[in-house]
Amino acid sequence: MTSTRFSRRRLLQLTGASTLGALAGCAGRLPGTDDDGGREVTPRSTVTSDPDSSVSLTAGSGTIRPAPETSTTNWMYEGQYPGPELRVQEGDVLSVELTNSLQKATTIHWHGVPVPNPVDGVPNVTQEPIASGETFTYTFRAEPSGTYFYHSHVGLQLDRGLLGPLIVEEREPHVEYDREYVVVVDDYLPGEPELPSGSGRGGGGMMGDVRPPYEGLLINGRLPEDPPRFEVAEGERVRLRFVNAGSATVFGVRIAGHEMTVTHADGRPVEPVDVDSFVFGAGERYDVVIEATNPGTWAVQADALDGNEPPARAVVEYESAGGGSPQRPSSVSNRLQYGDLRSISSLDGVSGEPDRTFDLTLSRGRGQSYTWTIDGQAYPDADPLQVRPDEHVRIRMTNQSPVVHPMHLHGHFFQVGNAIKDTVIVPGHRGQVTIDFHADNPGRWLFHCHNLYHLDAGMARVVRYVE
Ligand code: C2O
Ligand code: CU
Repeated sequence: MTSTRFSRRRLLQLTGASTLGALAGCAGRLPGTDDDGGREVTPRSTVTSDPDSSVSLTAGSGTIRPAPETSTTNWMYEGQYPGPELRVQEGDVLSVELTNSLQKATTIHWHGVPVPNPVDGVPNVTQEPIASGETFTYTFRAEPSGTYFYHSHVGLQLDRGLLGPLIVEEREPHVEYDREYVVVVDDYLPGEPELPSGSGRGGGGMMGDVRPPYEGLLINGRLPEDPPRFEVAEGERVRLRFVNAGSATVFGVRIAGHEMTVTHADGRPVEPVDVDSFVFGAGERYDVVIEATNPGTWAVQADALDGNEPPARAVVEYESAGGGSPQRPSSVSNRLQYGDLRSISSLDGVSGEPDRTFDLTLSRGRGQSYTWTIDGQAYPDADPLQVRPDEHVRIRMTNQSPVVHPMHLHGHFFQVGNAIKDTVIVPGHRGQVTIDFHADNPGRWLFHCHNLYHLDAGMARVVRYVE
């Protein structure tokens, strides 16, 4: 393991505790968030067997052209935005050698994959950030199957373009389909992302928020004037793997002329449910299947629920249709709700009453600076959430702000209602969501809002295993 930087608060507590000679004996009084007792549990080690698939990725800067008349300098992997699709079979060992050609340090996080802690890619928590000019190799077993994505976990780099899809194919899919497309939905920010300043006008006031100056919305790196085209043949069943790789956008997705059958939520299989739209927050994924029984040219549309940029667009085009401008989706009548999701498999270790419960309030920080807090603390000056191996852990969140927070837990799936997910939207205005997970992956795991600006402004905690 590389060296670790504790938060200032924690360091103070540690120093205080050892001065009093109290460190050794306090394992018995665990749960509270301000108890540093207990020895850290050694993480699962990284895979050492030969990889089934080895990939090199270089992070660097380059020019992207999201539309014929538009170009900007982005940071990206392999000169591509979105980064190259990584695709492996469930259970394969994947090894990715990252070379950092940026001027800044970076890391990669494998969003949603419960990897061993040392390869989770969180700077100063699971690894030292990879300095400019250095390389780092991430090796892990790609399981379970699902639609994932990978992205930088340093600062606001995700919003500069350092992201790409990671597909882990199931050996036996629970739904049939003839072909598939990966649909990466993103917000488009030319130039360098910045945190809003302060709580004045730039910060959206005490409670609200300010949206980064996005210049559009993208599907697979394209603005709506030059949408990607998904070819289909009549009679086919087409799987679409939607990834919300946006940094501050909740998208509502519709497809003209077709019902969507939702088959997977955050990569996990669900009982198929038919809808005409779904909403997803930053970091969430949905797989849907459409039946190509309605020849023509049809828009796939992703609207920003919290912004007024023109919707992101792709086009479903039947081979027989011969071009033409796509038909737009009609208004929404049957939108997916979390309550509609029923996971096919169950999550072990989360039945009955939890062994440990955290009640957490999500809110905008008080004071002059732009901060977002969990229980009044802004990471990294925040207490870890301490758990013991094998516990059933419950986190109850209450959102005291008016804006939504897509909360993501590293290293674990959680149960929310009847679904198994890794990212969940907590609605604004006192919205409440409860998640349950099984503490089966020792280490230090970030739990945070996937709105990148909220994360960077403090809306994160470390879940830390102690015994
Ligand atoms: Cu995509 Cu810390 O996460
Ligand atoms: Cu948030």
